[in-house]
Amino acid sequence: MLCFPNQLLLLLASILTTVTSAPLEHEEFDVAAALQSHGFQVNQYADLATLSSTSSTRACEIACKALEQHYGAESIDRPDEATYTSFLGAYWSAIQSDVHPYCIFKPSAPEAVSVLVLLSRFTQCPFALKSGGHAAFAGASSIEGGITVSFQNLSGIALTADKKIASVQPGNTWGSVYSALQKDDVAVIGGRVENIGVGGLTTGGGISFFSSLYGLACDNVVAYDVVGAQGDIMTARKTENPDLYWALRGGGNNFGTVVSFHLETVPLPGGKMWGGSLIYQESSFNEVCKAFSATVDNIANKDHRAGMWLAMALQNGTKVASVEHYYSEPDGQKSPAWEPFKDVPAASDTRKNQVLFNYTADVQASNPYGLREIYYGLSFLASADVLIAAKDIFYEEIVALDGVSNLLPVLACQAFTLPILEKMQKNGGNPLGLEDALKEGRPVYVMQVASWWDHREDDAAVYGVLSKILKRIKAASVAHGAANDYVYMNYASMFQDVISSYGAENKARLKAIAANYDPTGVFQTLQPGYFKLDRAPVPGSGYFSH
Ligand SMILES: Cc1cc2nc3c(=O)[nH]c(=O)nc-3n(C[C@H](O)[C@H](O)[C@H](O)COP(=O)(O)OP(=O)(O)OC[C@H]3O[C@@H](n4cnc5c(N)ncnc54)[C@H](O)[C@@H]3O)c2cc1C
Ligand SMILES: *[C@@H]1O[C@H](CO)[C@@H](O)[C@H](O)[C@H]1NC(C)=O
Ligand SMILES: *[C@@H]1O[C@H](CO)[C@@H](O)[C@H](O)[C@H]1NC(C)=O
Ligand SMILES: *[C@@H]1O[C@H](CO)[C@@H](O)[C@H](O)[C@H]1NC(C)=O
Repeated sequence: MLCFPNQLLLLLASILTTVTSAPLEHEEFDVAAALQSHGFQVNQYADLATLSSTSSTRACEIACKALEQHYGAESIDRPDEATYTSFLGAYWSAIQSDVHPYCIFKPSAPEAVSVLVLLSRFTQCPFALKSGGHAAFAGASSIEGGITVSFQNLSGIALTADKKIASVQPGNTWGSVYSALQKDDVAVIGGRVENIGVGGLTTGGGISFFSSLYGLACDNVVAYDVVGAQGDIMTARKTENPDLYWALRGGGNNFGTVVSFHLETVPLPGGKMWGGSLIYQESSFNEVCKAFSATVDNIANKDHRAGMWLAMALQNGTKVASVEHYYSEPDGQKSPAWEPFKDVPAASDTRKNQVLFNYTADVQASNPYGLREIYYGLSFLASADVLIAAKDIFYEEIVALDGVSNLLPVLACQAFTLPILEKMQKNGGNPLGLEDALKEGRPVYVMQVASWWDHREDDAAVYGVLSKILKRIKAASVAHGAANDYVYMNYASMFQDVISSYGAENKARLKAIAANYDPTGVFQTLQPGYFKLDRAPVPGSGYFSH
């Protein structure tokens, strides 16, 4: 056996990790050859072979046609087909339904995603990914004139024999996942509404009913299978491509296309849990805000099984607050977490034993499809005073939108409790930049102003007023010493630079990782939608950013 001095061994180890940690792309990377290695021969398609001499305005026409020839007519939907129209109708927000791709591509194997990414590089036709289609703004999971990838035929769900890991493809919604796993008395850490996609929620973070017990959805992904810029299907986990693994846990669509999420399961016999809403009138709002705040601390100190959101709305001129309480076991009313709410009289109380899947279906019913939508968010360090100030600012400013047809504005607040912040440190942590809050022992309140409305003509008015509300809430958080940069990707608007909100250091690290895996910026330029490493989806708008 050879003997090396320790220092040399260390040096060797560090060289080895640098060399093997990433499949670096060489300058001479040949896209056509890579396509060929995935069974796609460029020279079999006349238009592709001559592409360099044809006009780039035909890029998407040529790419869609090649995909259709290679994978069959079933795999491509075009504007003259009923399937295309129904696909557009399946976005939650009408703003996304208004975007018209050149074609929709439905891969039915991960390798077809490799071909799509490489073909986009070859032709320069841009693409977007639609999982559950619940992102609210144009271009998030849609692309005008490009290729929108529908994952509907990549919808596998597999549970390991020991029931510890559920492998879920991005064509699934949380409803389909929960109902499949329920038979085996397990669940995963995912969304709280049936039709939310596994793809978007998990790549942005993912607040679950069980997050104080286990962390966010992204903190419970054991491994990702991801198609990178070179079309290779890589695995990212703690021991394999660890930098990519870290980046994917909240870094959005910037590093690759996830074709399988391997999720750690949690026990949930029969899907049985507990939850429901308490409704309050305006006279109790300040008390509700204080009770919310005290409950966040109670959850940390007394009972991690509990969770909650608070929503204050203006419904047909009436101010109404709703507090959702939920619990990871039946009979959650017994939890000491709710003590602060005992003395606040509710107008109604629907809390009861629930079955996870059915609970998510019920919440779905209050989030109708086909309206214009915005989610617009910020965060601050736990403070009942800022919460109360935010509520006052919201109701003061929102009246400016009185004339907007079918407007339903909501100010929502949720907490990254201390146990959630702790669980974010699992498996090497995530890039969200919340370690300081944890060190200071301050939970983070994730706030969101959301609304739906009917008509495009009102868009600018809605954006202007919501932006003003958030600017004032941000100022209130600064004034109360509770400012926090972080913006939750899954609740952010197109005007927000989410990656910058993770902090300069994490942003630099994310960019370095992307530069390594994707040196030509495929996921920045050929997949231009959503929160990019260096910009908001709609940069420089002047509206509130972060
Ligand atoms: C009614 C409602 C309820 C919600 N409830 C919750 C909740 O309980 N908890 C929570 O945390 N959030 C919640 N959200 C926010 C939600 O997480 C985001 O809207 C999320 O983006 C939706 O995911 P999706 O797959 O449906 O979205 P899509 O619009 O399909 O995708 C959003 C983004 O994700 C990217 N993406 C999708 N699939 C992949 C993939 N396979 N690989 C790489 N990138 C991908 C896309 O590029 C796109 O930019 C809710 C939203 C709504 C409207
Ligand atoms: C996709 O799945 C549907 C059924 O959900 C099937 O009818 C269709 O043929 C599949 N398409 C492809 C391209 O595999
Ligand atoms: C609001 O008022 C309008 C007309 O007065 C009515 O049609 C609608 O159902 C009301 N909406 C709610 C949520 O109460
Ligand atoms: C839950 O939903 C399933 C599927 O829709 C349904 O069959 C079942 O009866 C529901 N269970 C309860 C308890 O509501």
